Amino acid sequence: MTPSELLDTRNRPLRDLRISVTDRCNFRCVYCMPREVFGRDYTFLPREELLTFEEITRLARISVAHGVEKLRLTGGEPLLRKGLEELIGMLAELRTPQGKRVDIALTTNASALAVKAESLKAAGLDRITVSLDSLDDATFRSMNDVDFPVAKVLKGIDVAHEAGLGPIKINMVVKRGHNDHDIVPMARHFRNTPYILRFIEYMDVGSSNGWELGEVVPSSEVVSRINEAFPLEAIEPNYRGETAARWRYKDTGGEVGVISSVTQSFCSTCTRTRISTEGKLFTCLFATEGHDLRALLRSGATDEELSEVMAGIWRSRTDRYSELRSSRTGGLGPAGRKKIEMSYIGG
Ligand code: GTP
Ligand code: 5AD
Ligand code: SF4
Ligand code: SF4
Repeated sequence: MTPSELLDTRNRPLRDLRISVTDRCNFRCVYCMPREVFGRDYTFLPREELLTFEEITRLARISVAHGVEKLRLTGGEPLLRKGLEELIGMLAELRTPQGKRVDIALTTNASALAVKAESLKAAGLDRITVSLDSLDDATFRSMNDVDFPVAKVLKGIDVAHEAGLGPIKINMVVKRGHNDHDIVPMARHFRNTPYILRFIEYMDVGSSNGWELGEVVPSSEVVSRINEAFPLEAIEPNYRGETAARWRYKDTGGEVGVISSVTQSFCSTCTRTRISTEGKLFTCLFATEGHDLRALLRSGATDEELSEVMAGIWRSRTDRYSELRSSRTGGLGPAGRKKIEMSYIGG
């Protein structure tokens, strides 16, 4: 079977696998791991529940045989997983059916980057994406809710750039009334750097962030606010199904992007699948149920059996949550069932 033949019910190929390597994080971002829910008595997964590096690599290898070309390591905060470099080294050995390397990316809060960037690069990591919601130290500290200083994140980004982990993308989740005053300052700062800033619409992911439509700043508003300060022009996507719409500063040629999963969903080209920390496969960020691949792995299934199950799951995939939500303007997920948390499945 050639990889292009594995399509879901809406004719979408599988291209992108996101792997959550830990459900823990040292930040408590208000839109992701609010303290009221993820407090001192919150129970994270015990070690034996986590997929081992061998198990992760096996699932990644099968996914690559099915068409995956990009692996993204997420968390929680992936740099909290002990020995992550070893996993990266194992994933870097994988080859597509055409014999090409797989793109290996990592989403991080950058708190440990200054220390880890060199070893991550040496292990085979290609690039990183950093979550950064404000440049203003007080706002940043209040959004991460652990009093983490912004200067340390900026330092981590620069060290990662020096180490060659580029192109580095910076993701800012915009929450009205919290950090929307930082839109133009963020644009001003990053437009003169090698980093690509992307503004993300605050999403109703999970069940614990108390999401309200009124707190979403539509990307159209973000673009018009930046355009007033620094004129922009639209540019073509890098690939079909890219999450971000890309813009360019007319004067400097630098790039900036917006990710509009609330106001302009991109489900029709969604080629992404996700594996949670304890080995459940989720074909949508807004899913309520995953497929337990760990049980299968630990029951002694062969590669052929795993491959057939994973292909079958993709073939029967119907997900298009954001499309349905947009058309209902803000309706929340299936009644009575809990959506998975972003900290559990990763961005
Ligand atoms: P590149 O590989 O650099 O193109 O990265 P990406 O844009 O695919 O991934 P990234 O992890 O940077 O995604 C940025 C943000 O977009 C995430 O943190 C989510 O907020 C959002 N996002 C990513 N994938 C999806 C998706 O499939 N559905 C929805 N609704 N939002 C997504
Ligand atoms: N809405 C949009 N993006 C979110 N993220 C986490 N929670 C949300 C949310 N509610 C994204 C952020 C962060 C990544 C780990 O997940 O971009 O960078
Ligand atoms: Fe941690 Fe990222 Fe969630 Fe913030 S957004 S709490 S850094 S996983
Ligand atoms: Fe893909 Fe689900 Fe996001 Fe739509 S809502 S883009 S189907 S992950």
